[in-house]
Amino acid sequence: MNERATLRVNEKGHLEIGGADCVELANRFSTPLYVYDEAHIRNMMRVFKNTIKEEYNGNGQVLYASKAFSCEAVYAIARSEKIGVDVVSGGELYTALKAGFPAEEIYFHGNNKLERELEFALDGKVGTIVVDSYREADILNEMCLTRGIKQNVLVRINPGVEAHTHAYVQTARTDSKFGFSVADGAAKNVCEYVLAKSNLCLKGYHCHIGSQIFEKQSFVIAAEKVLDFSSTIKKELGFEASIINLGGGFGVWYADDDPKLKLNDYNDYLKAVISAVKRKVKENNLKEPYLLIEPGRSIIAEAGITLYTVGAIKNIPGIKKYVAIDGGMFESPRYALYQSKYTVLLANRANEPCTEKVSIAGKCCESGDLIAVDVPLPEAKSGDILAVLTTGAYHYSMASNYNRNFIPAAILVNEGKADYILKPQTYEDLVRNDLIPERLTK
Ligand code: LLP
Repeated sequence: MNERATLRVNEKGHLEIGGADCVELANRFSTPLYVYDEAHIRNMMRVFKNTIKEEYNGNGQVLYASKAFSCEAVYAIARSEKIGVDVVSGGELYTALKAGFPAEEIYFHGNNKLERELEFALDGKVGTIVVDSYREADILNEMCLTRGIKQNVLVRINPGVEAHTHAYVQTARTDSKFGFSVADGAAKNVCEYVLAKSNLCLKGYHCHIGSQIFEKQSFVIAAEKVLDFSSTIKKELGFEASIINLGGGFGVWYADDDPKLKLNDYNDYLKAVISAVKRKVKENNLKEPYLLIEPGRSIIAEAGITLYTVGAIKNIPGIKKYVAIDGGMFESPRYALYQSKYTVLLANRANEPCTEKVSIAGKCCESGDLIAVDVPLPEAKSGDILAVLTTGAYHYSMASNYNRNFIPAAILVNEGKADYILKPQTYEDLVRNDLIPERLTK
């Protein structure tokens, strides 16, 4: 079990998170239920923020990558921890603004931002837009010209770093839909193009090398490459970046194969990145840029667990035992998408030894709707409360209403107090946008 979150087993043998008994939470709020530990979220935001403060004179900012989990409450927490956020769609932007998040601290990403999203970002006075195509540079400049404003932008570059992670979540190889490659000169060309735009104010560069990465060295190499690129552009185009955004991607613990990082380890990752930045600044005779990082998963993943109620159990002797739960790929899609591993336990019998290996099946009409395969568990019975750990990132944010199942509610727990941050859906929510054309009613 994760040592950093406030997860523990209490006197009743029940799993507890943020001082709240998971069995009581399941009874009170019903299942499936996303549960978030506020202390853990805040701790992670502070670790990154403090490292920038201590190792880099506070000359930078942590941006919470809100694609990992976007809802009004999480922007409110980020706000109160005085960090910024990144958003990747009009929807995330709308949510952040609705939560009262200051627009100047919002960074807007995306490889194909829609015109209406760019308009919305300009209407909302978003601080910085990360340009990812020539088309975007053209459209954005036109829009700014019409409005008589100058917009701060970064250019997304691709430093070509191979990060060791699942292929689907690598984003900075040369073959990537994201960013302009440094290696083939595309990054330099787009900088020249953006610098010539009358109403765009280029501030610097952004890169993101992938997600769920544990190799410190990948981040260090990326930082070095971005700073070298900055030096090249200074020499060749006479422009020196004042902002460098090195993206997110720090890994988290899901299951036994993953290292269990402590707060200090995240501190060390960032320290290594910062010292690479400082070294390159010196070597290339640059000014120390304002440093941005964008952790999403590492801030929110381990803060979240999902609670379920066990329903049907199907034993196929010699083959598999399926333990079915009241959730599934509609609210927990990462096994179906990436075969991601998870740690599961019975929240109501958390001290009991595991006696068998089972597969956790969802309730969707699809054989691939599994949450975990061959995981150890005590003998589960219908009515048990099953907890899946490390579900705070890319679960709710990737959930759907597949099979017209409800996207579960989410609660935030802290020192035993629990509040809804996302209300439960109702049948009415599911049909809210349905229409029957009149000709079908005759
Ligand atoms: N910045 C940019 C530009 C990104 O594309 C991402 C993630 C992040 C920051 C945050 O990365 P993190 O610290 O969370 O690793 N759905 C996948 C993850 C996709 C990540 C996409 N980009 C999953 O469930 O594993």
